[in-house]
Amino acid sequence: MTRLKKGILVTVEGIDGSGKSSLVQNLYDLIKPELANVLLTKEPGGSQLGKHLRTILQEQTIPITAKAEFLLFAADRAQHFAEVIIPTLAENTLIISDRLCDSSVVYQGYGRGLDLATIQAINIWAMNGIKPDLTFYVRIDPKIAYQRLVDRGKLSAFDQEPLEFFEKLVEGFEQLYQHNKEVIILDGTLAPHELAQKAKNELIGWIQRHKLL
Ligand code: TYD
Repeated sequence: MTRLKKGILVTVEGIDGSGKSSLVQNLYDLIKPELANVLLTKEPGGSQLGKHLRTILQEQTIPITAKAEFLLFAADRAQHFAEVIIPTLAENTLIISDRLCDSSVVYQGYGRGLDLATIQAINIWAMNGIKPDLTFYVRIDPKIAYQRLVDRGKLSAFDQEPLEFFEKLVEGFEQLYQHNKEVIILDGTLAPHELAQKAKNELIGWIQRHKLL
C-alpha cells in the first residue's frame, strides 16, 4: 500500500445539514484502501477530554456564554492537537478531521459575534502553530441545510438556532475562504456518493501535485 512522504492535515468544514459528516465518513472509506496510514477524527470530540466537552456543548443544558463556549471548543482543540493530531502527523498519516479551527472562527466569530482576531490567536496557540494543509468546504444554501435538519427532526443546540444564524455562518465561511488557495469548495447538493468521489479525486490530485506520494 502507498505511504505518504509526510503527514497531511485535511479538514472538512460546512454548516450543519451541509452533508459534511457523511462526506467525511465516505471520503475515509474511499481513501483508506489506497493509503497505508489514514486517520478519521473530529472536533469537538476527537480526544477523551473532547468527548466530555462535546456532550456539554451539544446538549447545552446549563447556561454557557459565547466566550465560555469558544474556550471549551479551544480546550477541545488543544487536547485534540496534543493527544491526536501532532503525534499522528509525525507518523506520516493522512488525517481527515470533521471540523477544525475555522468552525470556531465562523460559529463563535461570525455567528456569535466574538472578536475574530482573538479567536484566530487562541486557535493558533491551541494548535501549536500547526495549520490544516488542505480544507474542503461543503457549500450549501442555508435554507436547504436548515430544511434538512428540520426533516431529520433531531436537532442539537446549534441546529436549533434560527435560519438567520445559518445565514451568518455561510457569510462567514464565504468571507474566510474567498482568497484561500488551499481550500477546495464542494457542492453540498450533490448526491452523497458523487460528493465523496469528487472530494477523493481532488484530494489525490492535491497529494500528487505536492509530490507527497
Ligand atoms: P458537528 O460535529 O459537526 O455536529 P454533528 O453532531 O452534526 O456531527 O459539530 C457540532 C456542533 O459544534 C456544530 O453545530 C458546530 C459547532 N462547533 C462550533 O460552534 N465551534 C467549533 O469550533 C466547532 C469545532 C464546532
